[in-house]
Amino acid sequence: MTLTPRFPHFLHGGDYNPDQWLSRPDILEQDVQLMTKAGVNAVSLGIFSWAALEPEEDHFSFSWLDQIIERLWQSGIHVILATPSGARPAWLAQKYPEVLRVGEDFTRNHFGGRHNHCPTSPVYRQKVQKIDTLLAQRYANHPSVILWHISNEFSGDCRCPLCQARFRAFLQERYGTLDELNRAWCTGFWSMSYSDWSQIEPPSPRGQMSNLSLLLDWRRFSTKQCKDFIAFEKATVQAVCPDIPCTTNLMERFWDYDYFDLAEVLDLVSWDSYPAWTGKDDEKVACEFAMNHDMMRSLKDQPFLMMESTPSNVNWKAVNKLKRPGAHLLSSMQAVAHGSQSVLYFQWRQSRGNAEMFHGAVVSHSGRDDTRVFQDVAQVGHVLKSLDSVLYPQQVQKSEICILYDWNCRWAVEYAQTGLNGQMDYHGRAMAHYHSLWRLGLPVDFRDMRKQTDFSRYRLIICPQTYLFMNDIEKKLREFVGNGGVLVITYFSGIADATNLAFLSDAPHDLTDVFGLRETEMDALYPDEENQIRMEDGSLYKAYGICSLLAPEGCSVKGVYTKDFYAGTPAIASHVYQSGEAWYIGARLDQTSLDDFYAKLTGKLQLTRAINALLPHGVTAHRRGDTVFIENYSGLPASIDLPGTWSDLITHAEVQHLDLEPFQVRILHPET
Ligand code: GLA
Ligand code: ZN
Repeated sequence: MTLTPRFPHFLHGGDYNPDQWLSRPDILEQDVQLMTKAGVNAVSLGIFSWAALEPEEDHFSFSWLDQIIERLWQSGIHVILATPSGARPAWLAQKYPEVLRVGEDFTRNHFGGRHNHCPTSPVYRQKVQKIDTLLAQRYANHPSVILWHISNEFSGDCRCPLCQARFRAFLQERYGTLDELNRAWCTGFWSMSYSDWSQIEPPSPRGQMSNLSLLLDWRRFSTKQCKDFIAFEKATVQAVCPDIPCTTNLMERFWDYDYFDLAEVLDLVSWDSYPAWTGKDDEKVACEFAMNHDMMRSLKDQPFLMMESTPSNVNWKAVNKLKRPGAHLLSSMQAVAHGSQSVLYFQWRQSRGNAEMFHGAVVSHSGRDDTRVFQDVAQVGHVLKSLDSVLYPQQVQKSEICILYDWNCRWAVEYAQTGLNGQMDYHGRAMAHYHSLWRLGLPVDFRDMRKQTDFSRYRLIICPQTYLFMNDIEKKLREFVGNGGVLVITYFSGIADATNLAFLSDAPHDLTDVFGLRETEMDALYPDEENQIRMEDGSLYKAYGICSLLAPEGCSVKGVYTKDFYAGTPAIASHVYQSGEAWYIGARLDQTSLDDFYAKLTGKLQLTRAINALLPHGVTAHRRGDTVFIENYSGLPASIDLPGTWSDLITHAEVQHLDLEPFQVRILHPET
């Protein structure tokens, strides 16, 4: 698998904005020399360069970019070329105000910022098409150009009249008739029914926010709008040169669009990773970012690029902490361990002014190469070179476990008005389950509910809060268990269909015989309340937040509540269904309880871990091919006895026992 065929190696480098320095040729020359010193082999160019490329309408200025690309290429540095649609020049917004976005309050924005365009606007599309075509014609055949970076971090949506019309067309295609839409959206409630398509408006705090089906379809529509826009830019540049793959940089925990759906239009996934290493609770941060990386790998089931990361601090968090010694290499290698084919940064050089002048960069305002940050970056460049020969373009290890994570479900859970309003926390709960597996060094994939999703390669599927069932997911899950798989589902699953209408049946919908139980009611607990679950083997689990009541119908009860009016009733149960086993977790468990649950379950299933060693708290392991990454996020020194003899990829020493400093990563190969 080669993501960038024109340069099949790990990429090291990042966002480079020479257009901010055109009056300083000395600095531009210094950049290339410093890049060579830092082991940089690829930079992303032109991300926000529209004003520099087209300073006036139809007056283009490419000579500066010609020179930059040529100079980089002389030094063997490759180019990820961006289309500039993420931010537009002032003249464009002034002359064609319709390119600007209309917000939630139905008023049009003014010029400024980024991500401030209407994806439907024909003028915007024409202007983007023109500049993209010119860029492609001029540079796509240059040997240095390896990848298209379409726009930048797409987000948000537009409510202008053109987008509204497209929304209605989307609904017409989806539902056919207004009667069907009224049925699917349950508009009999609060006199919401529509008698004409033109009455349907996007959700707005000034209008409709109570129709949960409308909210859900608006998210799907927003995804489609973004996907269409990417497809349009991709078709534009690939019409000139079809050989260069296209990506756009995605973001963590991103809510606005369904990334599984969006990724279909990309040739490869890339994303921007900004963990906040705080020095406290870094184990949690590490797990969160491991999950992000695994999600990005899962979107297309292939390696990905880490398109941005900071070499030191960011400038947009409430507290912008520096990376502790070791954290840069560790954080970069975590990405590689989980499937990244790059370590790329935002940004190469700190800008002189404006919003990001204090954001971390490889080269700071001082322009020096003897800074801690520069040295850290150069070290990563060096390590990536050694990894190249053993890892690239090798596939990542296949996982036997998958967590079902679906944006439709996530939106619906978080819109639902029940239980812990606003805190049902679909993402956070998926992460809690992931956390237990990560601690054990078990590789995990994520899968969604699209029609094409295939679960056959997994042995264990985990479905946290799978409230919404669509595309016959219940049939696939049944088949999975029937064929010998182990399924774990939690409370609040199988409640509503694809349009967010409740199933008129027992929950989980059409799977009660697989689990041998029904979920009858869902209790929510105040923050200072908790319940306890006594497990069959005597362990005590802590339940908080949500406790569902279960009616057994053939299952084997594994744990019962010990408190409240439902003390003694089932909280956790398993059931043998045909050749497999189905587990039901009826309550929100704290992390220690989940850890115990998964240690026992995965131990029984003998799932393959990255390495068969006892990993102290805060230390985890991940494998790519034969290479094992051991990562220490504990904040403390750690020791591990290894099974067998290994060689350390960085020091070349032979090791059977590892001592790790805080924030240290060790990269090991089995001795042959
Ligand atoms: C995002 C953007 C970059 C930059 C960084 C700062 O990832 O894509 O342009 O603003 O954030 O962290
Ligand atoms: Zn619009």
